[in-house]
Amino acid sequence: MAFIDWSNSLSVDIKELDDQHKKLIELINQLNDAMKVGKGKDVIGKVLGSLIAYTKSHFATEERLMQTHSYPSYIIHKKAHDDLTKQALDLQKKFEAGNIAITVEVMGFLKDWLSKHIMSTDKQYSPFLKGKGVI
Ligand code: FEO
Repeated sequence: MAFIDWSNSLSVDIKELDDQHKKLIELINQLNDAMKVGKGKDVIGKVLGSLIAYTKSHFATEERLMQTHSYPSYIIHKKAHDDLTKQALDLQKKFEAGNIAITVEVMGFLKDWLSKHIMSTDKQYSPFLKGKGVI
Protein backbone atom coordinates (compact mmCIF):
# COMPACT_ATOMS: atom_id res chain seq x y z
CA MET A 1 0.00 0.00 0.00
CA ALA A 2 1.24 3.45 -0.91
CA PHE A 3 2.07 6.02 1.74
CA ILE A 4 -0.54 8.37 0.24
CA ASP A 5 -3.28 7.11 -2.01
CA TRP A 6 -5.00 9.35 -4.49
CA SER A 7 -8.71 9.59 -3.84
CA ASN A 8 -11.53 11.67 -5.24
CA SER A 9 -11.61 13.64 -2.00
CA LEU A 10 -8.35 15.24 -3.23
CA SER A 11 -9.75 16.18 -6.62
CA VAL A 12 -10.02 19.85 -7.59
CA ASP A 13 -11.99 18.70 -10.64
CA ILE A 14 -9.57 20.30 -13.12
CA LYS A 15 -7.70 17.62 -15.04
CA GLU A 16 -4.32 19.30 -15.49
CA LEU A 17 -4.11 20.17 -11.80
CA ASP A 18 -5.38 16.79 -10.61
CA ASP A 19 -2.72 15.15 -12.80
CA GLN A 20 -0.04 17.36 -11.24
CA HIS A 21 -1.28 16.59 -7.72
CA LYS A 22 -1.15 12.87 -8.57
CA LYS A 23 2.46 13.29 -9.72
CA LEU A 24 3.32 15.07 -6.44
CA ILE A 25 1.76 12.20 -4.49
CA GLU A 26 3.78 9.75 -6.57
CA LEU A 27 7.00 11.62 -5.72
CA ILE A 28 6.16 11.67 -1.99
CA ASN A 29 5.49 7.92 -2.20
CA GLN A 30 8.86 7.43 -3.94
CA LEU A 31 10.57 9.43 -1.22
CA ASN A 32 8.84 7.35 1.45
CA ASP A 33 9.89 4.10 -0.25
CA ALA A 34 13.51 5.30 -0.53
CA MET A 35 13.50 6.26 3.17
CA LYS A 36 11.87 2.98 4.27
CA VAL A 37 14.37 0.72 2.54
CA GLY A 38 17.26 2.80 3.81
CA LYS A 39 18.46 4.16 0.46
CA GLY A 40 21.58 6.28 0.60
CA LYS A 41 21.71 10.00 0.98
CA ASP A 42 22.37 10.51 -2.73
CA VAL A 43 19.24 8.61 -3.81
CA ILE A 44 17.03 10.25 -1.18
CA GLY A 45 18.52 13.65 -2.02
CA LYS A 46 17.71 13.14 -5.68
CA VAL A 47 14.06 12.22 -5.02
CA LEU A 48 13.72 15.14 -2.61
CA GLY A 49 15.16 17.44 -5.28
CA SER A 50 12.67 16.12 -7.86
CA LEU A 51 9.80 16.63 -5.43
CA ILE A 52 10.81 20.23 -4.77
CA ALA A 53 11.36 21.01 -8.47
CA TYR A 54 8.00 19.53 -9.41
CA THR A 55 6.28 21.38 -6.54
CA LYS A 56 7.68 24.69 -7.81
CA SER A 57 6.55 24.00 -11.35
CA HIS A 58 3.09 22.94 -10.13
CA PHE A 59 2.74 26.09 -8.02
CA ALA A 60 3.73 28.17 -11.08
CA THR A 61 0.99 26.47 -13.16
CA GLU A 62 -1.68 27.26 -10.57
CA GLU A 63 -0.42 30.82 -10.16
CA ARG A 64 -0.55 31.41 -13.91
CA LEU A 65 -4.13 30.14 -14.09
CA MET A 66 -5.20 32.21 -11.08
CA GLN A 67 -3.61 35.35 -12.50
CA THR A 68 -5.00 34.80 -15.99
CA HIS A 69 -8.52 34.62 -14.58
CA SER A 70 -8.05 37.30 -11.88
CA TYR A 71 -8.79 34.90 -9.02
CA PRO A 72 -9.75 37.13 -6.05
CA SER A 73 -7.75 35.10 -3.47
CA TYR A 74 -4.61 34.95 -5.61
CA ILE A 75 -2.42 36.86 -3.12
CA ILE A 76 -3.40 34.58 -0.21
CA HIS A 77 -2.83 31.45 -2.29
CA LYS A 78 0.50 32.73 -3.62
CA LYS A 79 1.63 33.46 -0.05
CA ALA A 80 0.75 29.86 0.95
CA HIS A 81 2.84 28.61 -1.99
CA ASP A 82 5.77 30.84 -1.03
CA ASP A 83 5.63 29.64 2.59
CA LEU A 84 5.47 25.98 1.54
CA THR A 85 8.34 26.43 -0.91
CA LYS A 86 10.44 28.05 1.79
CA GLN A 87 9.70 25.19 4.21
CA ALA A 88 10.64 22.62 1.56
CA LEU A 89 13.87 24.43 0.68
CA ASP A 90 14.79 24.72 4.38
CA LEU A 91 14.22 20.98 4.75
CA GLN A 92 16.40 20.28 1.71
CA LYS A 93 19.15 22.56 3.01
CA LYS A 94 19.15 20.81 6.41
CA PHE A 95 19.11 17.41 4.71
CA GLU A 96 22.08 18.32 2.54
CA ALA A 97 23.99 19.71 5.51
CA GLY A 98 23.38 16.43 7.34
CA ASN A 99 21.31 18.07 10.08
CA ILE A 100 18.18 16.12 9.32
CA ALA A 101 17.36 12.61 8.16
CA ILE A 102 14.29 11.76 6.11
CA THR A 103 12.37 10.00 8.85
CA VAL A 104 8.80 8.92 9.52
CA GLU A 105 8.31 12.31 11.14
CA VAL A 106 9.55 14.22 8.08
CA MET A 107 7.38 12.08 5.80
CA GLY A 108 4.36 12.79 8.02
CA PHE A 109 5.10 16.48 7.69
CA LEU A 110 5.26 16.24 3.87
CA LYS A 111 2.05 14.22 3.73
CA ASP A 112 0.15 16.79 5.83
CA TRP A 113 1.75 19.62 3.93
CA LEU A 114 0.48 18.37 0.59
CA SER A 115 -2.92 17.04 1.57
CA LYS A 116 -3.86 20.01 3.77
CA HIS A 117 -2.88 22.48 1.07
CA ILE A 118 -4.90 20.65 -1.59
CA MET A 119 -7.90 20.12 0.67
CA SER A 120 -8.08 23.55 2.23
CA THR A 121 -6.49 26.02 -0.21
CA ASP A 122 -6.53 24.47 -3.68
CA LYS A 123 -10.14 23.33 -3.49
CA GLN A 124 -11.20 26.94 -3.01
CA TYR A 125 -10.17 27.93 -6.56
CA SER A 126 -12.06 25.07 -8.13
CA PRO A 127 -15.57 26.60 -8.52
CA PHE A 128 -14.07 29.95 -9.56
CA LEU A 129 -11.76 28.55 -12.26
CA LYS A 130 -14.37 26.10 -13.51
CA GLY A 131 -16.76 29.04 -13.79
CA LYS A 132 -14.18 30.66 -16.09
CA GLY A 133 -14.19 27.60 -18.32
CA VAL A 134 -11.01 25.92 -16.99
CA ILE A 135 -11.54 22.17 -17.20
FE1 FEO B 1 -1.80 22.51 -5.77
FE2 FEO B 1 -1.81 25.43 -4.48
O1 FEO B 1 -1.00 23.85 -4.90
